[in-house]
Amino acid sequence: MRQLCFAGLICLLLKPLTTEGCSINSTLDAPQSPANHTFSSPSWPQGYPVNMTCGWYITAPEDHIVMLQLTSQLSSSHSSKDSVEVYDVESSELSLITIRLALQNTSTVFSKFRSLYILFTSDDKTSPSEQGIFATYTAISTGKG
Ligand SMILES: *[C@@H]1O[C@H](CO)[C@@H](O)[C@H](O)[C@H]1NC(C)=O
Ligand SMILES: *[C@@H]1O[C@H](CO)[C@@H](O)[C@H](O)[C@H]1NC(C)=O
Ligand SMILES: *[C@@H]1O[C@H](CO)[C@@H](O)[C@H](O)[C@H]1NC(C)=O
Ligand SMILES: *[C@@H]1O[C@H](CO)[C@@H](O)[C@H](O)[C@H]1NC(C)=O
Repeated sequence: MRQLCFAGLICLLLKPLTTEGCSINSTLDAPQSPANHTFSSPSWPQGYPVNMTCGWYITAPEDHIVMLQLTSQLSSSHSSKDSVEVYDVESSELSLITIRLALQNTSTVFSKFRSLYILFTSDDKTSPSEQGIFATYTAISTGKG
């Protein structure tokens, strides 16, 4: 998220709406491979708040796609409604790539277009296995242009 800070107060005013320390649509630019950036759920790996929704919107430069490596450590209990969803974004259309990615694993996802949207939601329960999610992302050239 880009922020201009003239004074502490103005930074606060520019902050998007947050739920428990995360935004529903944090906008991130993927750096060109081999450089990469990372993001994580609040307090990773020390657990995450209940009833939380966080979203990350990652965009790669022209003629690139996003490669996302996502590590999830969420509750493996069947009653848990914690989830991570990854969407391909084409202009303003979202299409689900994967729902409830392996809850305790690392997966690699490649975007179809230039952007990915990752949505993380937690239910109203916590369990000791819940650390949250951690992601590394980079932009890969499609070889056109
Ligand atoms: C999220 O942010 C991106 C870039 O700022 C914007 O294009 C997109 O429409 C936003 N999505 C939602 C659901 O607000
Ligand atoms: C991210 O970049 C670092 C070096 O800056 C590298 O050690 C690491 O393996 C990269 N991770 C991924 C998933 O590409
Ligand atoms: C994680 O993924 C690997 C390979 O995809 C698989 O062998 C392993 O069983 C998975 N572990 C869990 C806990 O889902
Ligand atoms: C979480 O949501 C549930 C159901 O809506 C509610 O009963 C509970 O009080 C909420 N907990 C917190 C800490 O907000």
